[in-house]
Amino acid sequence: MVPIKKNNPRIQNKLAASVLRSHLQTKFIGKNILVFDTATSTNELAKRLAKEGIQEGSLIIAEQQTRGRGRLKHAWHSPPKLGLWFSILLYPKHDHERLGLLSLLSGVAVREAIAELTPLQPALKWPNDVLINGKKAGGILLETEFTNARLAFLVLGIGVNVSQSIEDFPLELRGQATSLYMESGLCIERAVLLNQILLNLEENYAHFQTRNFEIITDKWKRRCPFFKNNISIRQNGEEIAGIFEELDTMGRMLIRLPSGETRCIHSSD
Ligand code: BTN
Repeated sequence: MVPIKKNNPRIQNKLAASVLRSHLQTKFIGKNILVFDTATSTNELAKRLAKEGIQEGSLIIAEQQTRGRGRLKHAWHSPPKLGLWFSILLYPKHDHERLGLLSLLSGVAVREAIAELTPLQPALKWPNDVLINGKKAGGILLETEFTNARLAFLVLGIGVNVSQSIEDFPLELRGQATSLYMESGLCIERAVLLNQILLNLEENYAHFQTRNFEIITDKWKRRCPFFKNNISIRQNGEEIAGIFEELDTMGRMLIRLPSGETRCIHSSD
């Protein structure tokens, strides 16, 4: 575990490209860093920049987002100085039917980084949640753009609640959201956490590129407390309850229903 100074300020210094760069130990992810004071959504910005031809691995990070987005058009609360809100551009060359795995491997990367830097042991929930003590500390929003049925680019948007206290969350989120500070009492410097997430992401993305999909799914399953347990999810308005039997190498969840039938879930409400 990397030692973290106990007396780091909770409200952190403003993000600066020079500080982020000085911490970064990756080979290609984040070699091009664009830092914004305010963005509507770093995913939106990343998509615009991708259309302008920005290089693979570019990191787009904002101090705050005014219209941060989560899955299913949920808003993602992204106040200044308290969290990491960033997007990475990737251009995977093959296995486009397995892109859902990238969302899972990003969750693994965030989870590993938190476990490496703190005493916390976050859990993963399909498809994109990073939970601590049952509350959401991070999430991943993967967005793709296809031209003529070919993948043009992929944006991996990652949000991590770093040093919020409970009052920093809007009332409606207080029962379901948490931060690393709230769970550990530690104020993790964002540049340190970002470097660790990106290092893990690079390592896990290499497994995807070399088609070692099971390394990714095995890591994910080990950290999902719902795996092999009874779960209930909604898909297209339908409630599906059963045992989370398997996670396949496409990143899909296989649920065994009480009837014995197995349902393959690739998206949920
Ligand atoms: C979710 O849990 O539903 C996904 C949350 C993803 C939030 C991140 S913050 C950076 C990037 N920009 C966005 O607008 N969303 C993602």
